[in-house]
Amino acid sequence: MDLLLILSQEHDKLPLAELRAVLEIENIETDIEIVCPGLVILRKLNEDLFDDYYKILVKRLAYTHEVHQLISECDCEDLDSTVKSIDWSGYVDENFAVRVKRFNTEIDTVGTEKRIGYLILSNTENISVNLSNPKSFIRVVVYRDNFYLCFGKYKFNKKYFEDMKPHKRPFFHPGCMSPKLARCMVNLSRVNEGDLVLDPFCGTGGILIEAGLIGAKVVGCDIDWRMKRGTATNLEYAGVIDYKTHVVDIRELEMYEEADAVVTDPPYGISTTTCGEGASGIFSEFLQSIEHSMKKDALLVMASPDSLDIDSLLRDVGFILLERYEIKMHRSLTRIISVIAKIH
Ligand SMILES: C[S@@+](CC[C@H](N)C(=O)[O-])C[C@H]1O[C@@H](n2cnc3c(N)ncnc32)[C@H](O)[C@@H]1O
Repeated sequence: MDLLLILSQEHDKLPLAELRAVLEIENIETDIEIVCPGLVILRKLNEDLFDDYYKILVKRLAYTHEVHQLISECDCEDLDSTVKSIDWSGYVDENFAVRVKRFNTEIDTVGTEKRIGYLILSNTENISVNLSNPKSFIRVVVYRDNFYLCFGKYKFNKKYFEDMKPHKRPFFHPGCMSPKLARCMVNLSRVNEGDLVLDPFCGTGGILIEAGLIGAKVVGCDIDWRMKRGTATNLEYAGVIDYKTHVVDIRELEMYEEADAVVTDPPYGISTTTCGEGASGIFSEFLQSIEHSMKKDALLVMASPDSLDIDSLLRDVGFILLERYEIKMHRSLTRIISVIAKIH
């Protein structure tokens, strides 16, 4: 069975990198077909585990807008016969809406929605169209001359990342990361339910909330007691209960239990303080001290400003760079997201 995914196009590499990371950590075997930027099909998914995989992707992914079961595909000429050949009673419960999304085509979306809707209606008994609040959602994606007919069973909670924006949480401080990027970084760290995730520069707890919500145990440290307390407040607000927070200077960090992943956004000295240390100094000291707090296979996913030469910092310690992504924040700041492993 196949799933069709519509990815966010707000970054050219991160949505696909995040998807690959989640497939890897969740052991989802599939053939990935990249139809065009923003449109991906996961082919040959195990039928018995299909529903579980579908739910996992909807639960975890930040930079994916939609995931649907791909029912059938055809070209423009075969559209009517293909729609008629499907037993829609297996997908439509009482009422439905068809919505078309176009990629690289000038097709008339409203006209196509009506045409497909009419064909479904006239081939299925006891169903009706409901455009405002449909019980069943049929997504049709058109790329050039190709039609992908899909069934939307599990929906992303689109409001979640909006509602969790830093200024809407009880504790706020400038320099917070967006929840979407925080979730993506957590996913890039290949963390799994029950794993221990450490953020040694936890600030307001944005990264730990996202790790906690996918079922990880989380530990947050910060040199500033107000951040430690604020992180706890924000974690509880988000419903994360399995957490610990500490006031710790990274240079003195000692963990009782090694972390399965470290996901963090150290201070750049722009909107968050480096406490008198230069940004390069704090990154260097962080990299030297964190290694001992990580399990052998643990990954470190870290944000840094592009002004910092991470490669030369890594050369001095026991780490190796696996992946690197650039995000242009504004004119004077490009953020680098690095996925780093320990050298064994
Ligand atoms: C960029 S902020 C983290 C923001 C966080 N990701 C969020 O979403 O709120 C960096 C944090 O590092 C803390 N910090 C600065 N120097 C530190 C040190 N030596 N050890 C531990 N924490 C430190 C600051 O107090 C600040 O809260």
